[in-house]
Formats: sequence, structure tokens, C-alpha cells
Amino acid sequence: MADNEIKKGLAGVIADETAVSKVNPETNSLLYRGYPVQELAATQSFEAVAYLLWHGELPTDEQLDEQRATERAHRALAPEVKDAIDRLPLDSHPMDEVRTAVSVIGAIETAGISNVLDAVGTPEENLQRSLQLFAALPAIVSYGQRRRRGLEAVDSRDDLDYAANFLWLTFGEEPDAVVVDAFNRSMILYAEHSFNASTFTARVITSTLSDLYSAVVGAIGALKGPLHGGANEAVMHIFDEIGGASEVSGWLDKALAEKRKIMGFGHRVYKRGDSRVPTMKAALDTLVAHYDRPDVAELYETLEREFVERKGIYPNLDYPSGPAYNLIGYDTLTFTPLFVAARISGWTAHILEQQASNALIRPLSAYNGPDERHIAEYEPDT
Ligand code: ACO
Repeated sequence: MADNEIKKGLAGVIADETAVSKVNPETNSLLYRGYPVQELAATQSFEAVAYLLWHGELPTDEQLDEQRATERAHRALAPEVKDAIDRLPLDSHPMDEVRTAVSVIGAIETAGISNVLDAVGTPEENLQRSLQLFAALPAIVSYGQRRRRGLEAVDSRDDLDYAANFLWLTFGEEPDAVVVDAFNRSMILYAEHSFNASTFTARVITSTLSDLYSAVVGAIGALKGPLHGGANEAVMHIFDEIGGASEVSGWLDKALAEKRKIMGFGHRVYKRGDSRVPTMKAALDTLVAHYDRPDVAELYETLEREFVERKGIYPNLDYPSGPAYNLIGYDTLTFTPLFVAARISGWTAHILEQQASNALIRPLSAYNGPDERHIAEYEPDT
């Protein structure tokens, strides 16, 4: 690459090294710390995968028990966080709610640090902060959905692991094992994906030696966009708009004539299909069978087939996860907050990695504005 070549959108630019995950579009594979994500989704709990992302190795039973005990101890929301959420309009977007809640947690946890140089914290403190946010996010997301539905919050259950407790917190009912399994897999698939826009945002903020909470708040902002995490919400809007499989052709004719982007398709890195989609589609199929909703699979498969035939652009992870979360009972606007709850593990692993080997991230730009000009009445100081 020539020194002055512009790489719009940083496409193709290798910005740094990472040991957290490897995306290989050639082999259509995604490895977390060396393990294929499909193998992790089939065999591990999301808590164990978070441990892997943070520590580089899967936990022993003892290490997992220890982490689970800390996670359980930090599941409840602080009154200040509840209060901040309650003060937001009921029709605030849930992503704004989550962003606000994390910001409030950050303000509480870093209170008393009077010197900006100390805000960054030690690696041990940041690992602890990562686990605390991981533990609190299910309550934040669930609290928001229940608030919008006019329901009282329910307390966490210490006898339930992360995924089952998350569903319990949202729906106030003991979740079925099939649903817990599909939800756990979705969390693992969403956990990490190298230098995507939100992770890179977190690394940029971290590189200034700002604190972990600020980096996560910035990442949440980046994830909200429909070209990134917001696409899982947008997929469901599209499904609602289309209605059923028999309407797909006509809908697609019109959408493509209007040059609309079809949400849940395409990817900056994968051009021949997203490595995570087959695993999530299999999880969606178990939910379709569980809830007896073949119409959902029919619409999904018809839109996929017709869009791939016409454009040669393949589904990304948001395509199967949107309808999966809908079947489980999540409100459409809550889908991207679920992505936050999963990606907090990857973001924080990258924040820890950036802190361990930091260089301020500050690219150059090619100026294309007016040539130098001057204010007529300006007189230079002598
Ligand atoms: N629908 C219709 N056309 C598309 C789509 C789509 N979903 N995706 C790409 N294209 C077309 C573009 O219009 C463009 O066509 P053109 O060359 O005729 O202008 C061409 O394919 C290249 O697309 P770009 O947007 O330039 O590709 P890029 O690599 O920058 O974009 C992106 C990737 C942003 C994900 C894009 O595919 C997109 O907007 N998809 C829809 C949003 C989405 O699903 N995002 C989720 C990403 S994955 C995740 O966050 C888990």
C-alpha cells in the first residue's frame, strides 16, 4: 500500500495484532483463542467462553465455579442504575437505556478517582470490572423489557446459570432447556469477532488511557447502528413488513428497485457466508420446532434463497438471531441489547489486550477542503 493511499472505511487495513480471535474468510472459520466457535457453542456455557476470552484458556471446573460465584454476586442492579433507567422516557430505545446504565455503573465504580492518570486501572481491576459488567447486563436488559411491558422486576436466581437466569429475569418463568440451549449458543456466537466496528471503537477509546466503562459506552454506541449490531433488530422489522413466505418475491422486487439494503445480509469480511450462521440457523430450527412455528422457517428460507439468487450476498449472524430472539419472546427493540450482553465479553477481552500493549490509535487523513485562504480584516499581531 502506498503511503498516501486512502483506505475508505479502513477496509483491508491491519490495524494491530490480536490473540483474542481469528476470522478467516478463506476457510469460513472463526476461532476464539484457537477454538472453532461451532465447537464452543456445542459444548460450553457462555460463562466458560467469556473466561476463555479473558484468560486465553478454558476454565477448570474450579475456576469456572469461582467465576460463577463472583458473577452471581454482581447480578443485582444498584439502586442508582435502576433510578437512572426509570427516569428515561418509556419509549427511549433500549440501546440508549443500556448505554446509560453502563455509564452510571462506570461513574459509581470509578468515583473518588481524582487523577485522570489513575482512571485506567490495573489489569486485575479491569478484569474484575469486566466480570461485573458481564454479570449486570442481563438484569439491565431484562429490567428494560419488563419496564416497557409494565411488569415488576424479578430477582436473579442463584440456582440458575447465566443463560437460564437471563431468561428468568426477563420472563419470570423457569425457561425450557431447549430455549436455554439456543440462547446460550447465540450468546457464544455473538461474543467476539476481532476488529469489528464496536470492538475497534472500544480499542480506540482505551488507547487514550481512558477507563474501561468509557470504552464500553462508546462500543455500545457503535453497535447500535444498523450496519452493525442494529441489524438483528432491523431483520425483524423486515420480517414483519414482509408478513409471510408467499410475499417475499414481490417485496424483494420493490425493495431492490428502491435500492434498499436488506438487513441481515452481507459482511465486510465474509463474502461467501458468515461462519456463525449455520450454528445459529440450527439453533433457530430447534426453536421453530419447540414453538411449532414452521411459518418462521419458511419465510427465513425463502428470503434467503431469493436474495442469494438475485444478489449473491449471504446472510450474517443477525439474520438467524433476529427471528430466534423473537420466538423466545424478546421485544424487537431488545435484540441489540442482547448482542451487547454477549459482546461485553469480547469487548473487554480486547480492552485488556489493548491496555497490555498500548499505542495511541490516531490515523492520518487526506485533506480535501479549500486551499489556504484568509480573513480580509485580520491583521497579524506585530
Ligand atoms: N442488501 C443489499 N445490497 C447489499 C447488502 C445488503 N444487505 N450488503 C451489501 N450490498 C451491496 C451494496 O449495496 C454494494 O453494492 P454496489 O457495489 O452496487 O454499491 C455492495 O453490495 C457492497 O456493499 P458495501 O456496503 O460496500 O459492503 P461493505 O463491506 O462495506 O458492507 C455491510 C458490509 C455494511 C455489513 C453491508 O453488507 C450491509 O449494509 N449489510 C446490511 C446490514 C447488516 O446486516 N449488518 C450486520 C453486519 S454483521 C454483524 O454486525 C453481526
